[in-house]
Amino acid sequence: MTRKIIIDCDPGQDDAVALFLAFASPELDVLGITTVGGNVPLDLTHRNARMMCDIAETEVPVYAGCDKPMRQPLRTAEYIHGETGVDGIDVFEPQTPLQAGHAVEFIIETLLAAEDDSITLVPTGPLTNIGTAIDRESAILPKIERIVLMGGAMREGGNRTPSAEFNILVDPDAADIVFRCGRPIVQMGLDVTHQVLSTKDRVERIAALRNPVADATAGMISFFERYDMSKYAAPGAPLHDPCTVAWLIKPELFTGKDCNVAVETQSELTLGHTAVDFWHVTDRPKNVHWVYEVDSDGFYELLTQRLSRFGDQE
Ligand code: RIB
Ligand code: CA
Repeated sequence: MTRKIIIDCDPGQDDAVALFLAFASPELDVLGITTVGGNVPLDLTHRNARMMCDIAETEVPVYAGCDKPMRQPLRTAEYIHGETGVDGIDVFEPQTPLQAGHAVEFIIETLLAAEDDSITLVPTGPLTNIGTAIDRESAILPKIERIVLMGGAMREGGNRTPSAEFNILVDPDAADIVFRCGRPIVQMGLDVTHQVLSTKDRVERIAALRNPVADATAGMISFFERYDMSKYAAPGAPLHDPCTVAWLIKPELFTGKDCNVAVETQSELTLGHTAVDFWHVTDRPKNVHWVYEVDSDGFYELLTQRLSRFGDQE
């Protein structure tokens, strides 16, 4: 049975690869893509998502959502992703139209019309759209099968501040709503995403597929990886967002445990910090399946195999 999902994202090269992986996976029925201000401003994130739909030749509807966080000013990340948000490929005006209506309304209306436990939300950017939807209409909660998100960090520390990962830092208030919502959450933080490094041989295998989606993937990664390879002196960059989709397709690649995760929403010093109670030292509820390990070779084998489906060869 296919799993109905909504991907909420801020493309961003790694978000784009997550979209490609989802498009290539028959296990998933992508009901829609909702976009949010994050890596780059909203007008670019929705343009980039629509570009990926053109490249993959898919009809998935794309909606624009919140252009700034619930309370905080918008923080962006052009220093990593480039001015376009998807540097590494030539940008173009996509044929895929932007749907009328706000992404939050699309999320609410789609969930209200669905059966209980029937739709999986896959946020890979700041959680503003998801937090706003839950805050506006709590009746959507029973409809959410699970939230599989990329964000947060424990042992890895922060990537935008010493204690906060970018997606959670950008909108900690929205993240707090999500972590308290009571629905099952699978969290892919930096502890696991920093294990899926885009090493040279892995990117070369993707480039060797020679189809438009694989070409775009290799091109985007080759730009995206520069910043983190230099910062961490690593042989590749973490391919954060596709970890969410890979978990939906092949959860056995990942290891995690149920923990409490809470978000700092007040402190200037540690704003956006995700406090992961890995050793259960509090009596706070285990609201999250915290993923902390992955078979990185298996992850890239899955990604490469799925990307090959966009070409002639199966
Ligand atoms: O911290 C990594 C996350 O921030 C990823 O989702 C990346 O796309 C950026 O949004
Ligand atoms: Ca992202």
